[in-house]
Amino acid sequence: MVKLAIIGIGKVGSTLAFISAMKGDFSEIILIDRNSNKAKGIALDISQSFDVEITVTDNYNDINDVDLLVLTAGAPRKVGMKREDLLEENSKIVTDIALKLRDKFRGISIIVTNPVDLMSYLYYKITGFDKKKVIGLGGLLDSLRMKYYLSKELNVAKNSINTMVIGSHDGRMVPLVRYSYVGNIPINKLLPESKIYEIVNRTKYGGDEIIRLSNTSAFFSPAICIYKILETIIKDKKEILSLSVYLNGEYEIKDCFLSVPVILGREGVEKILELELNNEEKRNLMIAYEKLRENISKLERIISL
Ligand code: 2OP
Repeated sequence: MVKLAIIGIGKVGSTLAFISAMKGDFSEIILIDRNSNKAKGIALDISQSFDVEITVTDNYNDINDVDLLVLTAGAPRKVGMKREDLLEENSKIVTDIALKLRDKFRGISIIVTNPVDLMSYLYYKITGFDKKKVIGLGGLLDSLRMKYYLSKELNVAKNSINTMVIGSHDGRMVPLVRYSYVGNIPINKLLPESKIYEIVNRTKYGGDEIIRLSNTSAFFSPAICIYKILETIIKDKKEILSLSVYLNGEYEIKDCFLSVPVILGREGVEKILELELNNEEKRNLMIAYEKLRENISKLERIISL
């Protein structure tokens, strides 16, 4: 059976621990949080309902042999914040954790800490792990939100809808309308341009909408998306998901993490799929890429340490 480690037991991490325990796919779930007592309380609470062994540690050597690691440690956004406003504070946290795992951890890492594309890049560069084994949660969550909005608008079951959002996990994300379908019907055959624009825009700021309403960053859908990634890996499902991965030439993008469609399986990112993009889609992807490169330049100082 598979062992899972979750670093950061805030709302996302604790919800993921609960889902993972309930699903029963893991022989052991190891929790790490700087507030060890909080992690112990959550482990005890969940353990009372399920048989999986949930342990807590503050020693990173205890997770070197786990198969899958989820990194959610870091400050979440507050109302009015952009994800990149967390760059400075969360870079320190991710750097500290990456240094503890470098040369030791051999499994697959799923990065959730925002700004996730940049945190995935930082983690990848510091650890030196195989690029197939470092995966950021971005486009999958955005694609899920776009699917939800389409489902409500068309009154169609979500499992009849396929959406594809690529790019950066922020307001510069690129919802690909041309690659989004309801059944086998392209959405632009079912909805007027104005309604599609409204859904695309709502998708771009789906996270902000939740923070405005509930005064907390989303955690249920992010946790469900992370579990989807974990399940696709451990069951070697070879599903096509939009994930933030390391690109070095694909889509004419170099040395950067951002979300594109990949085939995900037991080995992690098994294949990056290069979609044919029209000029507008390419332009929007480049806008996201250029902004990420601008922020990566702020990380280079840390990475060079
Ligand atoms: C979101 O969009 C937490 O970035 C995540 O809800």
